[in-house]
Amino acid sequence: MGTNGYAKTYADSVEDPEKFWLDAAGLIDWDVAPRQALDDHGAPLYRWFPDGQLNTSFNALDRHVLAGRGDDTALIYDSAMLDTQRTYSFSELLAEVETFAGVLHGQGIRAGDRVVIYLPMVPEAVIAMLATARLGAVHSVVFGGFAAAELAARIDDARPDVVVTASGGLEPKRRVEYLPAVAEALETAAHRVRSVVVASRDGFGHTAEEYDGAGGTEWADWAKLAETAEPQGPVSVAATDPLYILYTSGTTGSPKGVVRDNGSHAVALAWSMRNIYDIAPGQVMWTASDVGWVVGHSYIVYGPLIAGAATVLYEGKPVGTPDAGAFWRVAAEHRVEVLFTAPTALRAIRRADPEAALLAGYDVSKLRTLFAAGERLDPETFRWASESLGIPVVDHWWQTETGWAICANPMGLDPQPIKAGSPTFPVPGFRVRIVDGSGTEVAAGSEGNIVLDLPLPPGTLATLWGSDDRYRASYLEAFEGSYATGDSGYVDEDGYVFVMGRTDDVINVAGHRLSTGAIEQAVAKHPDVAECAVIGVRDSLKGQRPCGYVVLKAGSTATEQEVQSALADLVRKQIGPVADFRDVRVVEALPKTRSGKILRKTMRQIADGDDFVVPSTIEDRSVLDDLMPLLRPGT
Ligand code: COA
Ligand code: AMP
Repeated sequence: MGTNGYAKTYADSVEDPEKFWLDAAGLIDWDVAPRQALDDHGAPLYRWFPDGQLNTSFNALDRHVLAGRGDDTALIYDSAMLDTQRTYSFSELLAEVETFAGVLHGQGIRAGDRVVIYLPMVPEAVIAMLATARLGAVHSVVFGGFAAAELAARIDDARPDVVVTASGGLEPKRRVEYLPAVAEALETAAHRVRSVVVASRDGFGHTAEEYDGAGGTEWADWAKLAETAEPQGPVSVAATDPLYILYTSGTTGSPKGVVRDNGSHAVALAWSMRNIYDIAPGQVMWTASDVGWVVGHSYIVYGPLIAGAATVLYEGKPVGTPDAGAFWRVAAEHRVEVLFTAPTALRAIRRADPEAALLAGYDVSKLRTLFAAGERLDPETFRWASESLGIPVVDHWWQTETGWAICANPMGLDPQPIKAGSPTFPVPGFRVRIVDGSGTEVAAGSEGNIVLDLPLPPGTLATLWGSDDRYRASYLEAFEGSYATGDSGYVDEDGYVFVMGRTDDVINVAGHRLSTGAIEQAVAKHPDVAECAVIGVRDSLKGQRPCGYVVLKAGSTATEQEVQSALADLVRKQIGPVADFRDVRVVEALPKTRSGKILRKTMRQIADGDDFVVPSTIEDRSVLDDLMPLLRPGT
């Protein structure tokens, strides 16, 4: 527990951010300590700690070893899929990272070069990320549930020299072979990758040797390269140099490359580990997410390790691997103190085990707090989790762009009373306001656009990869002086923030952020499709699921069932299985405004059973009326 309470800490952070963040910078080991916190020369693009120098992997590994904690646990790999576990101490993980940094160095990777990492939830993912950081290079991790086309789009944007992958990933019902997908991505991408490094896993059908030359690229085996690799030390980089690019869905089909720097990222995460998560060196944090998402970057890999804590890397699902007690088993076996997961995972457990009867079989007495993020923690799931576990269940709100929580209950400062459905208060450094469409602040309790005043605190995105203009246009132009979160919500009279949903076409399916625009682009590739609208509708398990309304070309003889299965396949191939695109209806026409814009928002409101207003600009009201029973059966 910190010495200052939340209110005082928050006030300090906004009244004197320079002092606040320079103090926080003391949590990090610098090669050159920063004397300045904020650099506003490029406003509205800001940089933090412009004169600082450090290495992020040194902060995650070496400094704990140098402090005599080399034998302490750093990484616990628990695979429910293989029924195996493996633990790495800080010294062991450091040795692996030094060696793999040697492999990357041998492949020509130097500071500033990009490395794309397409790996399942195996220790190699953590090792590859830290090894890239060790060289001062920039990683871009691509979630294993994305298809080859999405991987290719990221390769073309990030322009990596090396792709690191594995033979495949394990899903409950199948083995996912990665190498054919990587080869396909390399063949479709315009950018030429120098080499592919493959971590081989038993039981998969393909090897690096077999693919050597595919996509005009050299393919080599991780273990073989490691035999002759020269271990590499940490390369000192500027705090403002990029650590990683992480692509996220925007409103268009082309993903946005969120750029995170080295220095402010390390400072923000170290600060958050103490003050939000209340985790100290030697304690165990388990974030049940995937390294392909921001939550995985921040709280499977960097946050816990920078803080000198142990982190759990779980390869498995909340249910079915083998049952809904999986989370309680992992928490008990690894003496987890803080668990962080997505509400959809809690709903899946609840659905399979409504009374949480399986909890009785495990000793989870070490567990102090359950954190949830990725989507709003609905009050019912909140109550179920709180009552089942008897510990604080903390919703906290953030985005890929911010890299850490915007609103949270600061468990390491002074925990605040929890209100169901709210992620509590703004985190120190974030200035949250609710505004109407013209940027005017609305009254307490009224819903509006959630904006964050500039500059954003350390740890948030520096820009979008390769395009400051796109960063400005996507986030900074809608409300001058503020960053537009794309979320809507309200602040109640007590100052609690409530985040209710997106104002754009981004949807959240089982914790996976997707763009309906990208799904529409995939659907439009079908030769029989004339027009389509994809909307995200509420789903009791996944939070949201995509539903498509499709108009067929004149003369098409395809049945609705044929269209459904063809489009499900197409979206699976173009975007990935996680899009879970199964709800497709063939319709006569789509409701539009007179200027031809499809009324997606109105359609979504009807489907969700919310209040809706039909825009006065609607072209033909009867089209909407005809669609009504399909959108909301029973109307
Ligand atoms: N690689 C390849 N395929 C993957 C994948 C990966 N990394 N992750 C998911 N998939 C596949 C699944 O196998 C499934 O394929 P199928 O249609 O052939 O069965 C499909 O994508 C949909 O999977 P998923 O979204 O996981 O849905 P589900 O119905 O299988 O499981 C949950 C539902 C709630 C149990 C599961 O989504 C879950 O654990 N969600 C939490 C996600 C999370 O933590 N996100 C991080 C946000 S902080
Ligand atoms: P991602 O970038 O994948 O982390 O997704 C970010 C989006 O998920 C946010 O903009 C919100 O729409 C939603 N989100 C994440 N966490 C929460 C939360 N705790 N409450 C409400 N919405 C959330």
